[in-house]
Amino acid sequence: MSKVTVVGAGNVGATVANVLAHRDIVKEIVLLDIAGNMAKGKALDMWQQAPIDYYSTYLRGTDDYKETAGSDIVVITAGVPRKPGMSRDDLISTNAKIVSGVTSQILQHSKDPIIIVVSNPLDVMTYAAFKTAGLPYTKVFGMAGILDTARYRAFLAEALKVSPKDIQAVLMGGHGDTMVPLPRYTTVAGIPVTELIGEAELNAIVDRTKVGGGELVNLMGTSAWYAPGAAAAQMVESIVRDENRVFPCCVRLDGQYGLHNTFVGVPVKLGKGGITDLIELKLNADEMALLEASSAAVKSVMDVYDGMGL
Ligand code: NAI
Ligand code: 2OP
Repeated sequence: MSKVTVVGAGNVGATVANVLAHRDIVKEIVLLDIAGNMAKGKALDMWQQAPIDYYSTYLRGTDDYKETAGSDIVVITAGVPRKPGMSRDDLISTNAKIVSGVTSQILQHSKDPIIIVVSNPLDVMTYAAFKTAGLPYTKVFGMAGILDTARYRAFLAEALKVSPKDIQAVLMGGHGDTMVPLPRYTTVAGIPVTELIGEAELNAIVDRTKVGGGELVNLMGTSAWYAPGAAAAQMVESIVRDENRVFPCCVRLDGQYGLHNTFVGVPVKLGKGGITDLIELKLNADEMALLEASSAAVKSVMDVYDGMGL
């Protein structure tokens, strides 16, 4: 049974811990935050939920990295979220230092954990953790694709009046407005989505998906947490159960898809040890052009990170 640390006990971190505890698949979850006793309080509250909701996963909160020792999986949600009018990239000056610092401190107490990055700007923060950790790409990757695909699937389910369970889709690229939903790889219970919806309506859904995070920021004044938390917990579950589920995750590409030293979402299998396979789809020229543009957008922010000298 695994030990999981969640760094950042804010909206997303607390949700990851809560969803994961309800799965009852890990022995212990450590919730770490620098904000006073926040993590301690939230973890204690969730542990007191265990007798009601029937799980055995033990939760404890801390601000001390010693308590994270021997973690198998670490989910990094530490950092500031965006406010209305901000892009994810605007967060880099604050979050780059936080994510690099968190990664170094984690590695002082856990030898080679699997690190799942959630903090924004996601693709570049995954790069920051990857660079700081010095672990293989199979062990340091980011959560965005499950969330973005879930938004796309939810919008489609609503439009087609079908259960979201029956929508399967692939979405690639960076976690920003350049993300690449792929209608050619979208089905409704195996039926190509293009047989069930008109082009204009499908394009409108693709466009809404691309700015889906911003829609929520405008509604709530801060970014989303229920779907993001559940998405990160789903990645942990596939690893802990060694399920080899196929999810779009942000990973380092070095040659795959003809792209080098970049971090974008592509479909991977998640199982014991982290990424057990990276799937290379045969994209057509239009899809490849969109993926290249998305990678270029991420790379320009990676350059900003490199310029920070962290
Ligand atoms: P939040 O403000 O509710 O929580 C962030 C927490 O991080 C706070 O409790 C804060 O005390 C803590 N923190 C800050 N510096 C820290 C440090 N050095 N060590 C430990 N903890 C530290 O924010 P929320 O809504 O939970 O979002 C967290 C991050 O996740 C943001 O950067 C947000 O943009 C990102 N996000 C990414 C998503 C994705 O799809 N990848 C989806 C949703 C949010
Ligand atoms: C989202 O897409 C803010 O990245 C976060 O909700």
